[in-house]
Amino acid sequence: MGEFKRHRGGHVIPVVEPAVFPVHRGKRFIVTGGTGGVGSATVELLLKQGACVVIADVSEDAAAKLADTLGGSDRGVHAIGLDLREEASVRAAVDRAVSTLGGVDGLANVAGMVKMAPALEHVRSLWDDQFAVNVFGPFEITRLVAAQMIDQGTGGSIVNVASEAGKRGHPDMVAYNAGKAAIINLTRVTAEEWAPHSINVNCVCPGGVETRMLHQVADTHAQHTPADADDIFAFMANEQLGRHIAPIEVASVISFLLSDQVQAIRGQSINVDGGSCPY
Ligand SMILES: NC(=O)c1ccc[n+]([C@@H]2O[C@H](COP(=O)([O-])OP(=O)(O)OC[C@H]3O[C@@H](n4cnc5c(N)ncnc54)[C@H](O)[C@@H]3O)[C@@H](O)[C@H]2O)c1
Repeated sequence: MGEFKRHRGGHVIPVVEPAVFPVHRGKRFIVTGGTGGVGSATVELLLKQGACVVIADVSEDAAAKLADTLGGSDRGVHAIGLDLREEASVRAAVDRAVSTLGGVDGLANVAGMVKMAPALEHVRSLWDDQFAVNVFGPFEITRLVAAQMIDQGTGGSIVNVASEAGKRGHPDMVAYNAGKAAIINLTRVTAEEWAPHSINVNCVCPGGVETRMLHQVADTHAQHTPADADDIFAFMANEQLGRHIAPIEVASVISFLLSDQVQAIRGQSINVDGGSCPY
């Protein structure tokens, strides 16, 4: 038994890139938020693992640029504009994705956004904006993709990206926390309802991932405290890992949950948070 101490500061556990096998050969996937930090890592991994992928994001230009970089339609990667705030945009994106891919076998609901304000100042418009992108849009695309899978008679898999914020909650992000809690819950319900159609639904709950979104959170805190944004960002590093979570570490779990081998894992919310949330 050694001296009593906390682990912060002493060590860094390196990121291990996943070994890549063609586990998704022949599969057709849609990734929302596919140009973002976690989304682009997911798109790239799924492609390497043999899938055809539609990158669906709010900027079709950014999605097209990424698709080009990854080899374009010759490599089975396509770009589609999708605004999760607009019901018509969601329907049009699903129609386009299904006709581009010739069907759909999986959906990764990665897109999301956060707007920060103390609970006392969390006015209705902040709830509306965040629920539109983090809850209503993801549910709408999930519903339409599930209906397509049922029509195809193939089943499929859906992975939602919630957050440990949906389990523990963080100050100044009440609508974000509540939206992620909603995703965890609707994951359980849809898994149960769609099991008879062989559609599997799970979600991942990341901790602090090194992406634009976490930088945005640090920048917003910095506007209201004397601390520097870089210091706040560094403070958000995971204690057990000694660093932030890497996008590829979340992408690996999304890929695993999209695969056919996880039939016995259903309706779960899997923490990818370096051990911070105990349940
Ligand atoms: N970064 C973190 O620390 C962290 C932690 C827990 C959960 N998450 C979740 O992980 C997911 C990915 O986030 P990220 O960290 O990669 O952030 P990111 O900002 O890099 O990516 C978010 C993506 O969502 C897209 N998006 C935003 N509004 C949209 C809209 N109206 N329609 C369609 N797409 C839209 C953006 O264009 C972007 O590509 C999000 O759901 C986020 O809530 C992130």
